[in-house]
Formats: sequence, C-alpha cells, structure tokens
Amino acid sequence: PSIVVLASGNGSNFQVLAEKSLSGELIADVKALIVDRACGAIERAKKLGVEVIILSKPWYEDFEKVMANLKPDLIVLAGFMRIIPEHIVAKYFPKIVNIHPSLLPAFPGKDAIKQAYDYGVKVTGITIHFVDAGIDTGPIIFQKAIEIEENWDLETLESKIHKLEHENYWRVINNLLHKPYKIEGRKVTWGV
Ligand code: GRF
Repeated sequence: PSIVVLASGNGSNFQVLAEKSLSGELIADVKALIVDRACGAIERAKKLGVEVIILSKPWYEDFEKVMANLKPDLIVLAGFMRIIPEHIVAKYFPKIVNIHPSLLPAFPGKDAIKQAYDYGVKVTGITIHFVDAGIDTGPIIFQKAIEIEENWDLETLESKIHKLEHENYWRVINNLLHKPYKIEGRKVTWGV
C-alpha cells in the first residue's frame, strides 16, 4: 500500500512516517509530501528522497488530479493547516486521516497544546481521527493521554506531545492499512 502526507509546517511527523517506511516498520510507500506553502517539511522530504508536490493556489484546485495520479490508500495530514472543503471530504471519506495535539473534542483548531496548557487541564494528549467536514470533528481512531506535571512549562508539554505523536502516528497508519476496522457512525472499531 501507499500513503501521501500533507503538511504546512515543521514536518517532524512527516519525517517519522517517511523514516518508518524506509526502515520497513511502516509497511507502506510514502509516495509524496504534499505542501500548500514553503515550509520546513520540504527540506526533510528532500533529505529522505521523497517527492515534494507544492499545490498551487488555491491549494485544492489540483488536489483531485494529484490524488488520481498517485492513488494513495490513505491521505495523511500531518500539520496541514487548511480546512478540507466539503466536496473533497465527501469524495475521499474515510481515506483522509489527521493527527491533533489534544484529546478531542477538547481544544480543536489552532494552538491546541497552548490552549490546553493555558486552560490548566491536568490531562491532555493526542487524537488521530478520520477527517470529516468539521474542524477536528471526525470519527476518532486513537487517543493517548498524558498527565501534565506541575513543573512543566509550555515547551516541556509541547515536546512530550510531539514525542507521543511520533511514537503513535505511524503505528496507527500501519494498522489502518493492514488490519480490518469498521466505522459505524462516530465509532471506529478494530476487527471484522
Ligand atoms: C502536530 O502537533 C500535529 O498534531 C498538528 O500539527 C503539528 C505538526 O507538527 N496537527 P510537525 O509539522 O509534524 O512537526
């Protein structure tokens, strides 16, 4: 199977996916990194020998053409800072997957780690979900919680969250590609 990764930023999650693909732990080809802007992810892709596709403006104009060409089994969002238009969600659901740095439905949208930190919650975490037409609202595939300790500043929490993301995103993608699952309404369950 194959995946493409969409990113707009730093690209650390993309890098782990590409590395795990190269090492054979993630049993999938990473066919391309797709970006909507100049960003750190591009340099990482070049170093790893992954093709980079830069979407023209508006970013969704060529999206379907690119997907028809690459035919990925999953479209993996990793810090892609765009809302996916309804016609794209309708066409590809449930093939688009996103990772979000909070325990949804708490703290959707931008700066979720800071939102959680500033709110003063004692537990936060990460969520991996299918993308639907809302913002961070799709069926939840995986969550992992982390307790915020009193001596952590925002940077500490950020690095802990990113570590959780890097440990788990590739495993969940691998499971989606190689294990049966069902989506019934909002509920995602493993097995036939
Ligand atoms: C991650 O925290 C992810 O959860 C969010 O955007 C961030 C991307 O980080 N959607 P990176 O670009 O993969 O380093």
